[in-house]
Amino acid sequence: MESKADVENVAKTQMDNRLAKAKPMKLGWSPEEVERISHALNEVLANYSVHYQKLRNYHWNVKGSDFFDLHEQFEELYTETLTNIDELAERIRVFGQTPLSTLKEYLKVSTIKETGTDLESSTMVREILGDFTILLHFMADAVHAAAEQGDSGTEEMIKKFINKLEKHHWMLTAFLAK
Ligand SMILES: [Fe+2]
Repeated sequence: MESKADVENVAKTQMDNRLAKAKPMKLGWSPEEVERISHALNEVLANYSVHYQKLRNYHWNVKGSDFFDLHEQFEELYTETLTNIDELAERIRVFGQTPLSTLKEYLKVSTIKETGTDLESSTMVREILGDFTILLHFMADAVHAAAEQGDSGTEEMIKKFINKLEKHHWMLTAFLAK
């Protein structure tokens, strides 16, 4: 049986391990690889952030007979989006990079554009479906970038987002078809 002293010794030995002492932010990727991955993640982050504010806009301003359904649906979507945005930004920090963090940068980089507030509920849903298509494009690019660099962590994170988005896309499309 291992004594307490043995455990402490093992912990001390670990500090002499060359790999364990490497700067964590490098994680084995070259600066070019880190740049490729974080660029792709920042594009998702910027688009996702504008999309998030659109969901809040529509949650607040939706009107008409679909009010209760859509008011709630938009809230569910922005809550999930908020969690995903946080994961994305923190993933960029894992690589020692700075996530885009200001509204100004998001609006500049994002392909997804804001709209006004006084829209038909069906137009709001169409806007969100359009956003999903744009997000899926940038997410697919991020998965591609991550896979190319053997970055399973990023790949797995984004694939999880894609899976959910595809399901939301189906549901909102079905809503419009009623
Ligand atoms: Fe609310």
